[in-house]
Amino acid sequence: MIDLTVKDALNAEGPLENVRIRGWVRTRRDSKGFSFLEINDGSCLKNLQAILDADAPGYASIEDANTGAAVAVIGDLVESPGKGQAWELKGRELSIVGTAPEDYPLQKKRHSDEYLRTIAHLRPRTNKYSAMARIRSEAAFAVHRFFHNRGFHYVHTPIITGSDCEGAGEMFRVTTLPPGYTADKDSDYHTEDFFGRAANLTVSGQLEAEPYALALSKVYTFGPTFRAENSNTPRHAAEFWMIEPEMAFYDLSMNMDLAEEFTKDLLTSVLDASADDIELFARFVDKELMSTLENIVSQPFERVPYREAVEILKQSKQTFDYPVEFGTDLQTEHERYLTETHFRRPVIVHDYPRSIKPFYMRVNDDAGDPETVAAMDLLVPRIGELIGGSQREERLDVLEARMDECSLDKAPYWWYLELRKFGSAPHAGFGLGFERLLMLVTGITNIRDVIAFPRTPRHLDF
Ligand code: 4AD
Ligand code: MG
Repeated sequence: MIDLTVKDALNAEGPLENVRIRGWVRTRRDSKGFSFLEINDGSCLKNLQAILDADAPGYASIEDANTGAAVAVIGDLVESPGKGQAWELKGRELSIVGTAPEDYPLQKKRHSDEYLRTIAHLRPRTNKYSAMARIRSEAAFAVHRFFHNRGFHYVHTPIITGSDCEGAGEMFRVTTLPPGYTADKDSDYHTEDFFGRAANLTVSGQLEAEPYALALSKVYTFGPTFRAENSNTPRHAAEFWMIEPEMAFYDLSMNMDLAEEFTKDLLTSVLDASADDIELFARFVDKELMSTLENIVSQPFERVPYREAVEILKQSKQTFDYPVEFGTDLQTEHERYLTETHFRRPVIVHDYPRSIKPFYMRVNDDAGDPETVAAMDLLVPRIGELIGGSQREERLDVLEARMDECSLDKAPYWWYLELRKFGSAPHAGFGLGFERLLMLVTGITNIRDVIAFPRTPRHLDF
């Protein structure tokens, strides 16, 4: 007997005797003398149909093969006379591995995304969320392949940090639990300091990736990042995954080239590797998904200096809730106007005012515009900001002056400053929000639905 996944069974090259399929029952139909089971094991979108004769061993427990039950069926894989599938399993033996009583929350009907969020532990058993999980896995693999093929090295940057990369103060504090703490009773946070100084969950791996770029030349990180921003939007999560390449000897324009190539490569790779799963989203979630993605991968992205973007927004006939001036951060409404109405394609806005950007971005003084820094944001239709990045300030004196300007205590950054003292070199990098990429590629509009167990303000149910 051999164990087969549903995917391998459906792609079999010929009939196979004595195979075992294990998975979860989607539906059962009983006829006189036999039953049909639709079995799904998450290996692909499709189910495998198994037919069980009433005289098969184990058939006595067929009533327990309800929607949601875990089953194992041993039988022969034979050509299916039915439409829509090449193969079906002619079962010879049924075992119920785990029953699912009538209160199984995923009965066969359409459930809203809101309801499914309340059962995040079971939603991967629906077509939509199992497809999402497979796409997410393929996309992660595509990230590694992209960088691996280009000579980048994967660096694991720490989760616990002593610095605030983005300088926005939106961090979660790490504390230890008081002695005698038990999980069943709430207790106050422990005040004793484990590290001897304040520690936070990282908002970005960039500061720790930079030393590795200035040693291995081309590196990237890919890991969870945390932001305690209290913005309850469909595009922000308190825990999200970020991909951050960092390259020595790159300037802003090379950084933009890489960001564009990376975005297009990820979309193309996922469209190719997850064609069936993407099609589900194109049919049921966003009818324009394919043309949107096609439009993104087939044309060059627009590049506009921030100053010019502000002029475009000021001159547009659209009225915005937030007026724009040089020095204001672009809001979602502005990002959407640029990508969806004005340019109708992804747009990289670059050279932002220094007043609204973090300390580490390179000042454009030698380009004659000291009021701006060599920053870039990639904006895409429907999502807004997908990537944020910059060329880094490699000049010690300018960096120190910028830190003063941002009222930063330089002491904890002593190591970061040393990089500008010992073998400093121009370098650049960016961060791509992995969940936002998944929203783009599936047409899903809420970040809570592209990550297994979303963490957002006032929500920690799992
Ligand atoms: O623009 P951000 O804040 O840039 C940085 O953190 C840089 N240190 C990255 C770098 O240069 N290495 O964040 C980068 C991206 C955003 O463009 C967005 O896609 C995503 O991370 N992002 C979030 N995604 C989900 N929820 C949030 N709260 C996010 N905040 C940022
Ligand atoms: Mg940003």
